[in-house]
Amino acid sequence: MELDRSDDEILSGEYGETRRVMLEILIALGKIYDAERLIPVSSVQVSGASYKTIGDAGLEWLEGLDARAVVPAFLNPIGMPREQWSEMGIDATFAEKQEEILNAYQRLGIRLTCTCTPYYHQIVQYGDHLAWSESSAVAYANSVIGARTNREGGPSALASALIGKTPEYGLHIMKNRLPDLIITLDDPAAAKDWGPAEYGALGYVAGKEVGNRVPFFRGLRPNRDRLKALGAAMAATGAVALFHVEDITPEARVPFFKTSFPVDEKETIEIAVSDVNAVFSEIEVNAVAVGCPHLSEDELRTVADLLSGKKVKKPFFVFVSEEMMNDHRDLITMIDRSGAHVYADTCMVVSPATDTLGSVMTNSGKAFSYLPAMCGVVPRLGTIEDCVRVATE
Ligand code: F3S
Repeated sequence: MELDRSDDEILSGEYGETRRVMLEILIALGKIYDAERLIPVSSVQVSGASYKTIGDAGLEWLEGLDARAVVPAFLNPIGMPREQWSEMGIDATFAEKQEEILNAYQRLGIRLTCTCTPYYHQIVQYGDHLAWSESSAVAYANSVIGARTNREGGPSALASALIGKTPEYGLHIMKNRLPDLIITLDDPAAAKDWGPAEYGALGYVAGKEVGNRVPFFRGLRPNRDRLKALGAAMAATGAVALFHVEDITPEARVPFFKTSFPVDEKETIEIAVSDVNAVFSEIEVNAVAVGCPHLSEDELRTVADLLSGKKVKKPFFVFVSEEMMNDHRDLITMIDRSGAHVYADTCMVVSPATDTLGSVMTNSGKAFSYLPAMCGVVPRLGTIEDCVRVATE
């Protein structure tokens, strides 16, 4: 692989053992995927931040590292809200370990912004090269913004934060971003009134068909929140890191894309609206959780409006980034008044608090997919309106 002088200096150990090892990680990754060189990244998102997922072994590894991030770098959600962890039912031993993980990342120069929606708070532009690791954030950055990132593992993302580069392969290369197949609905008109929950259900169904390929949707007109829900669910049931929607997502509109993608010659999968509707159910649940991925401003406002003047009778959890919480205190107060809880830094999947709930209703296709496997709870999918109705009736 082509390396420059600064890479050679890092490899010689001139900038410390941690940087040397981190560059070795990136070079090894590049060799696996036949990358010709390393390219600079403008931001990094590091997963592996919850004590629930990395445990003592991960903490020990982090504490042994000694270097500072050279590009803006931030974290995926952790296992608890940094402020209200005891209110959420997190035990003190877990909280102590989680704090140690945060301290380790802070010492490495990683910002303690713990969210899967960094794109609401960082300037990320079309064509930017990133090294992000949370699957829904990767799908959003690639598809909705037109930035370029592979789905990094925790160690490779951290290596990119400390070196400022990533190997140039996969979705960093334009020809790999062209679609592999087309997806249509058997009744496109049915999608006209779909909200994020229905798009999440579509993603839940489509992800299983698509695997790790790049799909091109035709006949849909989703806005950004719906695209977010679609991509998050497809990344969960498949390994979709990039998708396009005809005339909607940015790369689907550029001339290179249009001339390089012969629509009529591609495999087409038609998804039945009845299969999307079948993801929804009516089972009894013990709790409701929304905010997977963390809510946008519009989504937060919708939740606040729907809960306004009502009282929840079941535990109702709302997950957002810390910045969203701080920027919209009025909406948080409206939600608090209903008895629902708004938590930052964490989520229903990476927090151990969900593991004891038994059954949970959510409006997220991604959470619907992850809750059984990662938290051992029975999930129910519903629209945000249904979530509020079930929690308050
Ligand atoms: Fe985000 Fe947690 Fe969902 S990290 S995408 S809220 S599983």
